[in-house]
Amino acid sequence: MSSSAAPNRRAIVPRFSHRLHDYVHGINSLAAALAAKQNLGEPILDLTVSNPTLAGFDYPETEIRAALGGRGGLEYHPSARGLPQAREAICGYYAERGERVSPDDLLLTSSTSEAYSFLIKLLCDPGDSVCAPAPSYPLLEYLADLECCELTTYPLRRQGSQDGGANTARWAVDFAALERALTATTRAIILINPNNPTGNLLTQDEVEQCMGLARDRGIAVIVDEVFADYCLGGAAYYPAHSDQALVFRLNGFSKVLALPQVKLGWIHVSGEPGLKARALDLLEIIADTFLSVNTPVQASCAALLELRDGVQKQIRARLHRNLLRITELTEGRDELTLLRPEAGWYAVIQLHTVEPEDTVVVTLLRDAGVYIHPGQFFGFEGGCHLVVSLLTPEQDFAEGCARVVQYAAHRML
Ligand SMILES: Cc1ncc(COP(=O)(O)O)c(C=O)c1O
Repeated sequence: MSSSAAPNRRAIVPRFSHRLHDYVHGINSLAAALAAKQNLGEPILDLTVSNPTLAGFDYPETEIRAALGGRGGLEYHPSARGLPQAREAICGYYAERGERVSPDDLLLTSSTSEAYSFLIKLLCDPGDSVCAPAPSYPLLEYLADLECCELTTYPLRRQGSQDGGANTARWAVDFAALERALTATTRAIILINPNNPTGNLLTQDEVEQCMGLARDRGIAVIVDEVFADYCLGGAAYYPAHSDQALVFRLNGFSKVLALPQVKLGWIHVSGEPGLKARALDLLEIIADTFLSVNTPVQASCAALLELRDGVQKQIRARLHRNLLRITELTEGRDELTLLRPEAGWYAVIQLHTVEPEDTVVVTLLRDAGVYIHPGQFFGFEGGCHLVVSLLTPEQDFAEGCARVVQYAAHRML
């Protein structure tokens, strides 16, 4: 009898990597409520919009097509660090921001997410860790898990007064907690400046203190600057670079040009010269293994960067108008507080309720037709936080936020 015909033999199936096992779980209650609403064909006011290409902005279509369709994209000249002309163009972007950056210190990736994965490969062995702020961008946990690395966190805390007209409250790094969070396995401190979704800008003092801490502990700093072009007034953005600590700054077209589909990101490296050169050489080996950045985008990098002002202006105008609207709607209310962002595409509303956050978001969706992300998706601990996207088209934003305010007022009665 052939083995395939043997009775009662258990099939031997291939197994999958354990790094994914935490993600194989059922659908959460918010996703289930969203699916139910969509199945019924009921209208939804979506306050989670994060894809700028579907948010009603007017892109210079002809110029984008012309840039990407140039002859430069037709020949392949593999370059692990990225084509020199593309790196030069990115230096031009920094120069316009008032910073001098050398193309030799840049390495291109296909996205900022890929830049994170390259840096974890560079810095971590399996079981090592990187330490990121909480609350922050949820993808970091997946990125770390996929590299068999642990994501630990340090808290950002609200400091200052939130009362009355003189609202001086801001999110600040809790340095005592950060120091406690750094262990023998920590290989990097991650800074997200401006942060998503809290929208706080790090002060010069915070950036320098983090770099000092990293230098003293012999670990690297990764600074995610994808929202740096979207400051909302007031606070200034402080760029991080060092000639001592090893610092990796990340950015890319998904926010600089609001073109996530074009797929270009980059890493800028600074630090003690010998260390910096070694890091760049090793990163080059990682990048050379994949050569993931497509040629058309590299060949068109300069032309595309030229187009960023027009799109950024539209986005900033919408961010400002939506922020103004949500400020008007929430001002002077006891039942909720707007945790005002200094930059970025998001704002956070804190509801002063004992109702669990997941109940609030599901009820808002089911009864008020407002789809909104709960703070727990971003690592807020305790309380009820709702994250709204300031990128949302203005009418939907105003109506959606008004319904959130009504909901909160009604619950307080
Ligand atoms: C803080 C932050 N970093 C990185 C990314 C990912 O950028 P990319 O599309 O270049 O991978 C995002 C996307 O929203 C983000 O919010």
